[in-house]
Amino acid sequence: MTDKIRVGVIFGGRSSEHEVSLTSAACVLDAIDKSKYDVVPIGITKAGQWLVGEDVLQLLASPSLQLTNEKSGALLQSSFFNEAKKVSLLPVPGEAGLVCLEPKKHGMEVSGAVGHLDVVFPVLHGTYGEDGAIQGLMELSDLPYVGAGITGSAVAMDKAMAKAVLAASGFPQLPYVTILRSHWEKSPIAVQDEIEASIGYPCFVKPASLGSSVGISKVRRRDELQAALVEAALYDRKIVVEKDAGNVREIECSVLGNEDPVASIPGEIIPSRDFYDYVAKYHDSDSQLIIPARLSPAATKEVQELAVAAFKALDCAGMARVDFFVDKDTERVHINEINTIPGFTPISMYPKLWEASGLSYAELIDELIRLALDRHRDKRRNVTSFSPQQHK
Ligand SMILES: Nc1ncnc2c1ncn2[C@@H]1O[C@H](COP(=O)(O)OP(=O)(O)O)[C@@H](O)[C@H]1O
Ligand SMILES: [Mg+2]
Repeated sequence: MTDKIRVGVIFGGRSSEHEVSLTSAACVLDAIDKSKYDVVPIGITKAGQWLVGEDVLQLLASPSLQLTNEKSGALLQSSFFNEAKKVSLLPVPGEAGLVCLEPKKHGMEVSGAVGHLDVVFPVLHGTYGEDGAIQGLMELSDLPYVGAGITGSAVAMDKAMAKAVLAASGFPQLPYVTILRSHWEKSPIAVQDEIEASIGYPCFVKPASLGSSVGISKVRRRDELQAALVEAALYDRKIVVEKDAGNVREIECSVLGNEDPVASIPGEIIPSRDFYDYVAKYHDSDSQLIIPARLSPAATKEVQELAVAAFKALDCAGMARVDFFVDKDTERVHINEINTIPGFTPISMYPKLWEASGLSYAELIDELIRLALDRHRDKRRNVTSFSPQQHK
C-alpha cells in the first residue's frame, strides 16, 4: 500500500481538439510530482473508447494503431507498446473506480478493476471533455476532479451562453449575434442581411461550442460570409458572429482557486498570422507570447479584476484562462472568452503565466489537485435527502 494520491489523468477524447489534448497531457504527465502521486494515464480514443495502460499516450498519438483498434475492436497491443486495457468508469459512487472490459460474443463484459481513483484531472479540450459531459460522469461517480463543475463547464464552453451570462452582469464585450444553423439554412439571405445590419465587416464567425479556433473565420466582405457560415455550421447548431476587435492586443489572464480565486499577471499573444487561428496556435513557432503583457498598471489591474469576476460569474472552479482584447491606443478592454480547461502544452499561456507569477508547473498541479479535493469535500456537505417531518 502507498499513501500517495491516485490521480487519473484523462486525455484525448471525442473532440476536434483531441491532438491538442494529447500535447497538453504529455506535459502534465511529465511535470506531475511522482513522489506525491500515483498517476493512472487514461486515454480516450477519437471513437470514445477509454483505455488504460502505461503507453496509452503514445498509443493515441500513433494514428495507425488507433485505426486498427477502431476497426477490429480488439485490445490494443503491439511489439512497441505494453498492453492497453479497455476500461469504463461506472456512474456509481463507491470503490470500483475504473473497471476493465473484455469483448465477449454479445458485447463487453467486466473482467476486472483498475482500482479506485482519489481524483481525476481531465486534460481534455472541447466537446465531451470541457463542456460538462465528463464532469457529469465524475459527479455521478462521486469522484473529485480538477476544474469547473457541470454548470461552469457547460456555460463557458458555449460562447453564445457565456456571452449572454456575461452581458447580464455588464461585462464589456464586442457586439455579437447568435444564429441558429437551422434558421440560416431556411433563410440564408435574411440571416446574412441581419448580420450585415447589426455587426458589419470585418467580423468573426465562430461555432458556439469549440475551441482552438477550429471552424472560425474572419470575414471582410459579404461574399466571404456564406463560406464562413458553412464552415462554422459544420461543427455546431449555434453560430456566433462578432464584430472585429480592431487594433488590439490579445491578452490572456490565468485564474486559480475555487470561491476566492486569484489572477496571474496577464500575458500577451502576437499571432504569427492574420489572427490566432489553429495553425498560429499550434503549428507555427512564429507566434509570440509576451509575459508580462505590455499594458499600463491600470489596464493590468482592470484585466485581472475582470478575469476574477468572469470566473465567478460563470461559476468556474479550480482553473480558467480568461481572454481579452485590449485596444492598443485607448486600452479599452473587451472580454473575449473563458476557457475552463486551458492548454497545458509547452507553449500554453496558462502554466506559463503562473510560472511568471511565481508558481512552478508542478506546484500548479499540486494546487489544482488540492482545489479539486477541497471542492469535493465541500460538495459532500450537501444533504441529498429530505424529510418534511425533520423540519417540523
Ligand atoms: N472579435 C474578434 N476580433 C478580432 N479577433 C478575433 C475576434 N474573435 C476571435 N478573434 C481571433 O480568433 C481567435 C480565436 O477566437 P476565440 O473566440 O478565442 O475562439 P477559440 O475558443 O477557438 O479560441 C482569437 O484568439 C483571435 O485571434
Ligand atoms: Mg480563444
